[in-house]
Amino acid sequence: MLDDAPRSSSTSADSIRIATAEFVVSAPNLKACPPLTYPEVAIAGRSNVGKSSLINHICNRRHLAKTSNTPGKTRLINFFHLALDPDSVHLHLVDLPGYGYAKIDKASQQQWARTLQEFLEWRPLAAIIHLIDCRHEPTALDKQMREWIAHQKIPSITILTKADKLSSSQLAQSRSRIVHSLHLQKEEPCLATSTLKKTGAREILQALHDVILGASSETLRKS
Ligand code: GTP
Ligand code: MG
Repeated sequence: MLDDAPRSSSTSADSIRIATAEFVVSAPNLKACPPLTYPEVAIAGRSNVGKSSLINHICNRRHLAKTSNTPGKTRLINFFHLALDPDSVHLHLVDLPGYGYAKIDKASQQQWARTLQEFLEWRPLAAIIHLIDCRHEPTALDKQMREWIAHQKIPSITILTKADKLSSSQLAQSRSRIVHSLHLQKEEPCLATSTLKKTGAREILQALHDVILGASSETLRKS
């Protein structure tokens, strides 16, 4: 599937549909991850920012990924298989444990950080979805993640979560601040979403669709 022929990315957001959305497997570490089957898009962000909720939102499924009010819910690397119609674009979305969760013991914190770091360093990713809470300034760890993404030149989609917590003018201001603070480039998508108000899913699906088609063409070009 990684070497699919490049296809047009002109499909409009309105026509993109989820044909398949299914949980594949959870892995405690890099070694236990399944073989690379489809282009993989990792979802990264601090604990409780809304990573797992985003998966449910874009797949229109309430309980596909496990969410929680308490930070630190996702402790494993969780793989989900998505197929997007009408182009039959297949991908794995990878729900990662959040970073920056302080309320666990030091040993668990270190173990967790190691798992995340190893995965990001060694797993070939088609793209990263980087989530930032729209209400807050990016943290030092958010900036570190962003620098790593830019350094690795991995296509990224930045998503501002919990958009329902701000008015539209506040959201626009927050977006400018975050774009500036993370040094996002003009061509890099920066989208807002609210799982509560069910907004932003179509734009995110479109960005995912485009990034996977781009990754497929790139793979072909290099082979
Ligand atoms: P970890 O797995 O702990 O790293 O967290 P996570 O990033 O996966 O966050 P999760 O999806 O579990 O959501 C954390 C909390 O934020 C839950 O209480 C969600 O209901 C809430 N949440 C997620 N998205 C939104 C949103 O768009 N608006 C609001 N108001 N709450 C949200
Ligand atoms: Mg989670």
